[in-house]
Amino acid sequence: MSSSRLTFDEWEGTYAERMEHLRRSAVRDLFAAVSRPGVIGLSGGMPDISTLPLDEVAECAKRCITEEGLKALQYGGSDGRLQMREVVCDMLAETDIHVSPDDMILTSGSQQALDFLGRTFINTGDTIICEGPSYLGALQAFSAYMPHVICIDLDEDGMRMDLLEETLKRIGPRGAKFIYTIPNFQNPAGVTMTLERRKRLIELSHEYCIPVVEDNPYGLLRYEGEDVPSMKSMDPDVIYLGTCSKIFAPGLRLAWCVAPRPLLAKINLAKQGADLCTSPFNMCLAEHYFKETDWHATLERSCANYRVRRDAMLDALDELFPAEATWTHPEGGLFLFVTLPPFFDTDQMMSAALEHGVAYVPGSNCFPDGRGKSSFRIAFSYESPETIHEGIKRLADVIADRMDLYHAFLEAGALPAPEDNFQLGTHEGSHARPATSATTTEGK
Ligand SMILES: Cc1ncc(COP(=O)(O)O)c(C=O)c1O
Repeated sequence: MSSSRLTFDEWEGTYAERMEHLRRSAVRDLFAAVSRPGVIGLSGGMPDISTLPLDEVAECAKRCITEEGLKALQYGGSDGRLQMREVVCDMLAETDIHVSPDDMILTSGSQQALDFLGRTFINTGDTIICEGPSYLGALQAFSAYMPHVICIDLDEDGMRMDLLEETLKRIGPRGAKFIYTIPNFQNPAGVTMTLERRKRLIELSHEYCIPVVEDNPYGLLRYEGEDVPSMKSMDPDVIYLGTCSKIFAPGLRLAWCVAPRPLLAKINLAKQGADLCTSPFNMCLAEHYFKETDWHATLERSCANYRVRRDAMLDALDELFPAEATWTHPEGGLFLFVTLPPFFDTDQMMSAALEHGVAYVPGSNCFPDGRGKSSFRIAFSYESPETIHEGIKRLADVIADRMDLYHAFLEAGALPAPEDNFQLGTHEGSHARPATSATTTEGK
């Protein structure tokens, strides 16, 4: 959290207008508070990298230096090292995406690719379409380009195509620059888009000439249920983002954007202006890691951990949370999404949660228009099952303190009309309950 000391900013008034529009990330803002000893951080979506075979990774790093040091430590091409792009092609082929190295550019994390997509597509005031809720880092990246964001509600089957179609009818062909979706184990909701909806999204994208951006960092982190084919595997026009962050290590800052070639040429220009090239050493290291270690087995061990931790979180929620709360039941990925009655304000509740020694991501961060106030995201990826249980207990205590007041208001018939009735998730993930909002909301 930033220092409480007020500092006079002598350059106030000289900053670019876009800095006014740049969304803050509560998660980054809260980082210091959450890192305090004794606080159980259910807010960050940090992958479990404890399963990495560090001695083998060290061997890969050593080989990068001894065999190719002068290349790996030199500048590289802005589209990324060819051998690494070939490795990515092989990995994508395992998920039925068949592309060549010329169909992709390697970026410094997919966060950078999101920024480049914003830079490439968005003029001030242009419309883009996202899911509601959506990945706050994407909303933050896009916000620098000052778009008009239309947010389409999710339910347990992913983005609602009925609402999307309504919106597309209203804005017409080419009425938005792109449709951004995270179809697998969505961040923050944890839900996965069904095959029917993926097919429908592709149809609508063509009917209205609006490209789909499929952001898929979590697709390989499934530990229950059946894989659903990616949209990229069904349609070469889809702009597809993948990353090393959740299948190897986020510290490498290495990801890929697979897209039609004319768009790649534009992204390449953005890349040159941003950082010239992705770290050649990191690309070399990742290439050796994926070629020479049993990374599938390592990932399986991580997924086994995620599954145990997810179950611990679901069990604790079942045991400790009030009947009025609902939550999603992810079949993979790192987090789930809890919704409380509209009376609750999880932004305000955060200070009490921190006092109780637990942190979450308030739902309003995940909507472009501040909706989602009664919801929050919690991650089960990082803490042990025991710590997760304790974290949920602390959260349940914070909620219980407010629940009495909620019931008193309810009994007196004095509950204020909900400003925001977004709701996602069911107890125990038993049945899909549609989001209660019947319309899309829009926000800058
Ligand atoms: C949906 C989504 N997209 C992109 C990113 C950024 O990933 P990277 O580490 O590759 O920049 C994240 C990180 O959590 C994410 O959840």
